[in-house]
Amino acid sequence: MRTKMAKILLWSLAALVACTFGGTASAQYKATMKLASATPMDHPYNVGAKKFADLIKERTQGRIEIKIYPAGQLGKGEREMTEGVQQGAIDLLVTSTGPMGGFSPSINILDFPFLFRDYQHVDSVLDGPIGRRLLDDFEKANLKGLAFWENGFRHLTNSKKPVRNVEDARGLKIRTMENKVHLAAWKAAGLNPTPMAWGEVFTALQQRVIDGQENPVAVIHSTKLWEAGQKYFSFTAHVYSPALLLINKKLFEAMPKEDQEIFLKTALEVAQFQRKINRDAEEEKLKEMETKGVTVVRDVDRDSFKRAMSPVYDEFSSQFPRSQIEEIMNAK
Ligand code: PAF
Repeated sequence: MRTKMAKILLWSLAALVACTFGGTASAQYKATMKLASATPMDHPYNVGAKKFADLIKERTQGRIEIKIYPAGQLGKGEREMTEGVQQGAIDLLVTSTGPMGGFSPSINILDFPFLFRDYQHVDSVLDGPIGRRLLDDFEKANLKGLAFWENGFRHLTNSKKPVRNVEDARGLKIRTMENKVHLAAWKAAGLNPTPMAWGEVFTALQQRVIDGQENPVAVIHSTKLWEAGQKYFSFTAHVYSPALLLINKKLFEAMPKEDQEIFLKTALEVAQFQRKINRDAEEEKLKEMETKGVTVVRDVDRDSFKRAMSPVYDEFSSQFPRSQIEEIMNAK
């Protein structure tokens, strides 16, 4: 009788401990989640997403499985897919911050041209308190920003001519992201920009509806834009384009605390990996593009673009005062 009582007592204690630390809740939680992106499977977004999915599966002992839907399978552009995450049709998304101002206006502060000096500057801002604040702001839009990943510094491509300075680029009809700061910057520089969802760009380039576009090396390389006539690449690095790993906020909050922590920790860990593979492969991808017949202009007069685009800082100063811009510019 005494042994039986002791066993019951022990069992109750174990159950109490398990419940207190969420063990029981997470042991019961099972889910299959859809992760979307606009880029092809071999693009760094999805190499990162695959690693994230593998680690989550391992760290939740197979309870949470993440399936990847690349190349715009779940939406023709990132704005549309973000709406899908808000509504719960998509669970997770790796996206540039391009069209995110419509969801969380504060994020547009990262979109100013020539704001970031280099990757080290990027990391110190995105991984510091400014980055954390910007991620937290997404909560108001029923989105949870898990971490900043990377799209990269953006460069101009076109089908008409080698562009060495802003004068060469004037008059070109280019696609931009659905982003008011980018749009204003290109207008100020004398180009003819049109915002467009990414899913429509390849055909628009192919049909010569537009002359060019701008994106990081990994996007241009993985979508083989030379096959759509983009023969000229210019190393303008006019703006840094962060990426976000977003999850539907309600879904995240419904997960046991222990799993939430696994998601947050893993998203940050993969951020370092994802940024590294993106950066390390850039030069090799540029060289491969040259073998495909792309003229790569490396010695671009970036100052000419910087001067021409600078009026946007004043244009948006009521939303983003100089003090906020300087907080980013002065970050070490
Ligand atoms: O240009 C864009 O819309 C984005 O950079 C892309 C290609 C969808 C990747 O985030």
